[in-house]
This record gives sequence, C-alpha cells and structure tokens, in this order.
Amino acid sequence: MPSRTRPRVRVVPTVELLRLGHRAGRDPRLTTHLALVARAFGARRMYLNPPDPGLAERLAAVARRWGGSFEVVGAGDWRAVVRGFDGTVVHLTMYGIPLERAMRRIASARTVLVVVGGAKVPPQLYRMSGLNIAVGNQPHSEVGAVAVFLDRVLGRGPPVRFGGGQQRILPRARGKAVRTAPEGRRS
Ligand SMILES: C[S@@+](CC[C@H](N)C(=O)[O-])C[C@H]1O[C@@H](n2cnc3c(N)ncnc32)[C@H](O)[C@@H]1O
Repeated sequence: MPSRTRPRVRVVPTVELLRLGHRAGRDPRLTTHLALVARAFGARRMYLNPPDPGLAERLAAVARRWGGSFEVVGAGDWRAVVRGFDGTVVHLTMYGIPLERAMRRIASARTVLVVVGGAKVPPQLYRMSGLNIAVGNQPHSEVGAVAVFLDRVLGRGPPVRFGGGQQRILPRARGKAVRTAPEGRRS
C-alpha cells in the first residue's frame, strides 16, 4: 500500500550578513571578498559597519554584470541592525558552540542574520546574539567562516539564482565561455 506521508520539504532560511569593524581604505579586499562570498553562496544582503559607499557601489556593479539582487547596505549603528532584526541572530566566533550542534535550530529559522567581526569584536555582541557559533574552535577568517556556514545552511537548498545580469558563464571543461545578453533582454 502506498504511503500517504508526503516527502518533507526543507525550508531554506533567508540569510543576511552584518560585517563589523570594516576599515575603509585599509582592508578593502578582505571586506570585498567577504561580500563576494556572501553573494555567491546565497546571502541576500550585507550590512556594513561602518558604511563604505565605494565598496557598496563595486558590489552593485558585480550584480549588474553577473545578476542577482545582492546588495551592500551601510550601517552606521550596528546595534540597531541587530535589535531590529526579525529572525535569529547568529554571531560567528571561534569561542562559540560548534556549528554542527546548532544546525537544527538554525535550519528551522525563517530568517538568519549572520554577524562577523574584524580585528576586534565588541563584547556586547556575545550577549546580543541568539547564538554564538564556531566553525571549528580555532582562529581563522570571517571569509572562511561565512563560506562554510552558508554552504552548510543553504547548500542543500535550491541553487542560487542570479537572473538579470549582463553576462552569464557557460561552464566549460577547458577555456572560458561567457554569454552576453543583448540590451533589454537580461535574464
Ligand atoms: C580575524 S577574526 C577576529 C578574532 C577576534 N580576535 C575575536 O575576538 O573573535 C575575524 C572574524 O572571523 C570570524 N572567525 C574567525 N575564526 C572563526 C571560527 N573559528 N569560527 C567562527 N568564526 C570565526 C569571526 O567572526 C571573527 O570576528
């Protein structure tokens, strides 16, 4: 007799990122790489504290060229972003509990704000976050931590869609192939 139980549909949370301690002019590549990784691995937007309009514009140019709606939003007051967030706030820190132990709670959230620091993290953040999560209890990098986190939390969901760009890569075993959409027909 056929089973009446429906296959369980996994609801994938919407993930946003808050980057603290950005030093505009000192480490633009690190924060740019963080934003590129967040975008490519499926985050919706990145709040940046302190704001950096130049970096936000560079990421907007990436979205125009390669598609999707990822955006960088300047955040003068990071506490207001955390307090005003309607969802689960996850602070990534080497001092937190292992990601594997918190996966069930994170996966059941509808929206997640992932917070990462720079050279120094305000101690208040540990108290304001719903979860302090470690991607291994060793020091490494916010870029690595975000990549692993997004891959675990979103990786088995639907593929990230990047419609609307001027260009699209046609994957090839060798060489480079890029399709450029005609003006007005960006998909
Ligand atoms: C260079 S580290 C700064 C470490 C800093 N000394 C601190 O108080 O955490 C920059 C950021 O990378 C992330 N990070 C580094 N190692 C991590 C780990 N093992 N697990 C999760 N996040 C990590 C954290 O978000 C951290 O704020």
